[in-house]
Amino acid sequence: MKFFVDTANLDQIQEAQDLGILDGVTTNPSLMAKEGIKGKNAVLSHYRKICDLVDGDISAEVISTDFEGIIREGEELADLHENIVVKVPMIKDGIKAIRYFSDKGIRTNCTLVFSAGQALLAAKAGATYLSPFIGRVDDISWNGLQLIEQIVEIYGNYAFETQVLAASIRNPLHITACAEIGADVVTCPLKSILALLNHPLTDNGLAKFLADAKKMEE
Ligand code: G3P
Repeated sequence: MKFFVDTANLDQIQEAQDLGILDGVTTNPSLMAKEGIKGKNAVLSHYRKICDLVDGDISAEVISTDFEGIIREGEELADLHENIVVKVPMIKDGIKAIRYFSDKGIRTNCTLVFSAGQALLAAKAGATYLSPFIGRVDDISWNGLQLIEQIVEIYGNYAFETQVLAASIRNPLHITACAEIGADVVTCPLKSILALLNHPLTDNGLAKFLADAKKMEE
């Protein structure tokens, strides 16, 4: 399973990269805005900085919603770096754009996915990645992990090559559940990745080992 970090914050990306377990980065307009990035040049330069930090797939999201606009923006993003994956919303023109990009060899991440039907369409259009939003489904009292399960089963039935990239992860249990289900990728806030480290028995055990190690000092 690939681990992506879901942020546009360069310090957090660097921290995840330094762990040595990072396979890529996903961003979205909300995460970019959170970093105070303003204007097209600043956006493009920020993506370049992320590409310099991480040698893995970097999802950069278009903000156009019409076919021509998505293509124009997506091609510009894809030209930035070979690791850029163009993130396209699950709308009618988005699906047409994913097919266009796929035919041209430009990799895509279909985002804002909340149903198995949407997942089918994205795979048919040739999306490289599919981003179902677990947390946001849970937020409305549906079951985000069941959605991941359903999509993994459907993709398996037909050997679709689209990779299931579980997004909107809110806690470490989402990550381990995705691993059990067989999601190809999880994209997580850094704090959910770091939370995987935690276990009180590890802390207690280490404290005891270190205390005993002191007894061996000359
Ligand atoms: O980038 C998409 C996704 O991961 C957003 O997560 O927490 O805003 O629902 P969240």
